[in-house]
Amino acid sequence: MIKNIHLICFRNHLNFKAELDSELVVISGENGAGKTNILEAISLFAPGRSFRNCKFDEIINNQEVSCNEWGVHITFRDMKFSTGYFPNFLRKIKKNGEHLKSQSDILKDIKVLWLLPQMENIFLGPASSRRKFFDSICYNLFPEHAKNILRYEYYLKSRLKLLQTECIDTDWLNSVESNLAKFTILIQESRKSTLDILKEQIKNISSKFLRPDIELVNLIEPLENEFILRSFNQCRILDKKSGRSNFGAHKTDLLVIDHNKGQKAELCSTGEQKALLISFFLTQALAIKTINGIAPIMLMDEILAYFDPLKQAEVINELRNLSTQIWITTTKSKEDFFKFLDNNRCSWLGL
Ligand SMILES: Nc1ncnc2c1ncn2[C@@H]1O[C@H](COP(=O)(O)OP(=O)(O)O)[C@@H](O)[C@H]1O
Ligand SMILES: [Mg+2]
Repeated sequence: MIKNIHLICFRNHLNFKAELDSELVVISGENGAGKTNILEAISLFAPGRSFRNCKFDEIINNQEVSCNEWGVHITFRDMKFSTGYFPNFLRKIKKNGEHLKSQSDILKDIKVLWLLPQMENIFLGPASSRRKFFDSICYNLFPEHAKNILRYEYYLKSRLKLLQTECIDTDWLNSVESNLAKFTILIQESRKSTLDILKEQIKNISSKFLRPDIELVNLIEPLENEFILRSFNQCRILDKKSGRSNFGAHKTDLLVIDHNKGQKAELCSTGEQKALLISFFLTQALAIKTINGIAPIMLMDEILAYFDPLKQAEVINELRNLSTQIWITTTKSKEDFFKFLDNNRCSWLGL
């Protein structure tokens, strides 16, 4: 649990401090008050960029001339973590005053998951955005999956480039395709394992509306080296002509079906789609908890606004079963937020 947080020159927060003594933290305030900014600050205790995926110098408060660096400090359990950025330096994370060698070392102590309103587009958008979403769940369960995807994409591009050349170097092309086959197998295996883990964890959710049916479609079958090599080989002419790769692990899509209605996610209402997203968020956290023993810190931005009060209470109670800290933003008053919930165990941050 994060026990306190301190933001300095972080977007609109010049000097924001809060003490937390509960696993449910609700940040309340009107639009533009800086609620999402606080969640963004916590998302920096994960490797890489913040969940807004912006440059680090955009984070520094741009209103006060005295701000020339930003910082975020938290106490997590009994450890002090800080991160910050000085112009022209890389972002660093410190644990108890010492720089971590690599940002990913933070994952040994803290895992953070977030659910943002813009993620709802995954059901309506192209297969690639669903696949990326599913792959990001895989990374959390199988860290090597991220590297395998990068390598696969590298070889896929190299193959297309080779196919476009006048005089194709067949030995090189064969070697690229054999690497592609290797990573195709690794990628599909970890995707399938992730799917199995999620399916198993979905059974542990008690609210029916948070238990979708999920499947991966357009998988490569049989997942055998020879078949994959043959398929890449057979697609050479077509791929050269179309300038696209018509076969491979990048064709996989995620199918999500609302269990109660038997309706595909893209046909569900906005509220139902939010519920399906929350199911992924929850099951992923349950899976991480099963594998690592500790559930991640959960950040939920605005998502609950789309639910009726009873469903909202059901979601929060379901999240509370994870026994981890949950950060939720809302524009509601405390009274409205807790209409159907017990508010004894909550840190309420009014902005
Ligand atoms: N670098 C920055 N410096 C100062 N203010 C910023 C910076 N980046 C964003 N903001 C401000 O932060 C506010 C938005 O905060 P946000 O956390 O998204 O609000 P909300 O409470 O609606 O979630 C906006 O008013 C925006 O102008
Ligand atoms: Mg916001």
